[in-house]
Amino acid sequence: MNQVSMTSALSTGQTSVAGASITAQAITKTYGEGPAAFHALGPIDLDIKPGEFVSLIGPSGCGKSTTLLLASGLEPLSSGTLEVDGKPLTRPLSEVGIVFQDHLLLDFRTALDNVMLQQEIRGLDKAVIRERADMLFDRLGLKGAQKKYPRQLSGGMRQRVSIARALVHDPSMLLMDEPFGALDAITRTQIRHDLEMLWLETRKTVLFITHSIEEAVGLSDRVLVMSTSPGRIIEEIKIDLPRPRPAHLGEYPEFSAYAEKIYSIFAKLGVYKF
Ligand SMILES: Nc1ncnc2c1ncn2[C@@H]1O[C@H](COP(=O)(O)OP(=O)(O)OP(=O)(O)O)[C@@H](O)[C@H]1O
Ligand SMILES: [Mg+2]
Repeated sequence: MNQVSMTSALSTGQTSVAGASITAQAITKTYGEGPAAFHALGPIDLDIKPGEFVSLIGPSGCGKSTTLLLASGLEPLSSGTLEVDGKPLTRPLSEVGIVFQDHLLLDFRTALDNVMLQQEIRGLDKAVIRERADMLFDRLGLKGAQKKYPRQLSGGMRQRVSIARALVHDPSMLLMDEPFGALDAITRTQIRHDLEMLWLETRKTVLFITHSIEEAVGLSDRVLVMSTSPGRIIEEIKIDLPRPRPAHLGEYPEFSAYAEKIYSIFAKLGVYKF
């Protein structure tokens, strides 16, 4: 979808599929070499369809961030194959928006200038990107925050600015690494809803990493549950709940069943020491 049609889709609420596919076969990652080599991930397979919202959940250190780095092309695979839109990934993707766990905003730039960084780095049309930035500030509940510096914003607002920055160039894929990890429960619930609404309108492909079972079930079409290190995908759970999903997911009896299933997998893995 080009920038103009994306803008109109957002403003009209029209739904269309704009995402990329991610396909991985038997990918692994080993950091370092020789005696210091550390097998951090896999082998894992991924088959993420265009426009799908998929979460990866797993214990700390199992290789979730590593998976995201491989899917973005920022880290090379140690073995296996990985394709985005049917093409082997051989260098960092440009058609991607990444939200890191730490918001990584530049302190000396205003919120708007942080978002406009994408336009500068990518050499995109300033007027088009500015229009999209304004639309995203609006859609993400950041009205009036354009001229503020990161230190003048709350943690939740900074996280929203980094989501706007990840989306402003209209990428076909959004990779999010525990984007709400540092936020309080109330802000997390609101930002989860805002992200879901934006996703419903734009249908980016999303690979979302979280430690939160509620967040994974609340947002995803599918949840991939990972084992302890070196992480492998040990369960795939299709989340069949209507959208948009409510603030209080406990309204759905099915939610408790999904959450219970993930808890019991982690209990079997020995993740919890109660
Ligand atoms: N650049 C690196 N060099 C060496 N080891 C690394 C590197 N990056 C990650 N690791 C190791 O690989 C393993 C997986 O790390 P990764 O960051 O992918 O885990 P994670 O599942 O994202 O954990 P968390 O939930 O705590 O964020 C860890 O043991 C980590 O120490
Ligand atoms: Mg991580």
